[in-house]
Amino acid sequence: MARALPSWRKLEAHPLLANVDHDQAARLNFLTHLNVHLSKTMVPSMKDAYEQQVKPFIEQPQTRHDIRKAMLNNGFFQMWSALRRNTMEMRHQLGRAIVLPQAKALAAKVQHYNQGQSSLQLDENIEQPINGAIVDIHCQPGGYHTEYFSDDVSVAASYDLGLFVTTAGLLGSLSDGGGQAIVNWLQSEHPKFQPKRILDLGCTIGHNVLPLAQAYPQAQVVAVDTARPSIRYAHARAKALGVENITFVQANAENLSQYADGSFDLITTSMFLHELSSSALANISKECYRLLAQGGLNLHLEQPQYAGMELFEQFMRDWDTLFNNEPFWGPMHDLELDQVFTKAGFDAGSVFSVGVVSKVDPAIFGSDANKGEAQDYGRAPIWNAYGLWKK
Ligand SMILES: C[S@@+](CC[C@H](N)C(=O)[O-])C[C@H]1O[C@@H](n2cnc3c(N)ncnc32)[C@H](O)[C@@H]1O
Repeated sequence: MARALPSWRKLEAHPLLANVDHDQAARLNFLTHLNVHLSKTMVPSMKDAYEQQVKPFIEQPQTRHDIRKAMLNNGFFQMWSALRRNTMEMRHQLGRAIVLPQAKALAAKVQHYNQGQSSLQLDENIEQPINGAIVDIHCQPGGYHTEYFSDDVSVAASYDLGLFVTTAGLLGSLSDGGGQAIVNWLQSEHPKFQPKRILDLGCTIGHNVLPLAQAYPQAQVVAVDTARPSIRYAHARAKALGVENITFVQANAENLSQYADGSFDLITTSMFLHELSSSALANISKECYRLLAQGGLNLHLEQPQYAGMELFEQFMRDWDTLFNNEPFWGPMHDLELDQVFTKAGFDAGSVFSVGVVSKVDPAIFGSDANKGEAQDYGRAPIWNAYGLWKK
């Protein structure tokens, strides 16, 4: 059954989302649909290109890097890779073209929600750590942290728009599919686990922490990020969406000494680990162990590690490391996470890995999006979660 493509126009905008006019929406949709084409039509053919046009002419590859070096000369890979890189750059150009002319108005809206609120804690002494400042991460001009004027939130507002393009609407109208997936899993597998104090690290604009705060309305939630404009926007966005039980804190997750040992029952991260250097990951893992109460859970949402994965799949997944300004992606996915977490204090062998999933959003994909055959298109991604219970 042919299914409608995700459309920006169907998005239920929250009050802080930048204004998008007709032509800008058409451009957002074009890039979104190009991304769908690249992943649904071109990616499946990449294996054929490798098997038929490259593999017969090279020595048996020993690593994903051997495959990449050979594929660099393949026309099909070159075309896909250039298009993919371009959709990313165009997403950011378009996001900025939409947001920058309204940057002052957006800052004023954010200020309206943030003024005098103790649930927003900014700290001028916090700098963006080297892992976030060394490159424009995933080609995002200014990363998550650059401010062009006092109270600016434009990088955050542009990120909010652009996620729809890159994820082709699969994370839902509020781009919170990851957080929803964590909640679904906790509620179905651990219904008795009712965390009272929740910590989310590297929250950016808070997409994935909101479902947790809503699922556990009695919990006090703390969401941490180093990036000032993102945390400012996150706080206002949560308020605008009526979520009141989160305190947004500008802080470095490598050192959260303002919180005592055992302060949290649940510590989460979403798509955070792959943007960390190995030393930052080690320090943050230690903080997770220290801050978790006995019986508490640490859950990291991530893409799967490379160990045990077929070399060709590793090569495809590693595209971001080499071509999308994600220098920590490959090194992080090569790590033995068990060892990292054990060194941080967790019990050896206590790491478990589980697939967690959210539903696709009928507001984007239509009312039958989660039924039967229809799940083949627009299906929400299955996330890989690494979990650790503190005994
Ligand atoms: C990929 S984003 C995370 C996405 C977000 N968790 C979500 O679900 O939408 C990575 C975030 O981590 C932040 N970050 C990087 N290093 C950090 C650190 N040491 N402490 C706190 N935040 C950090 C960055 O500023 C950025 O906002």
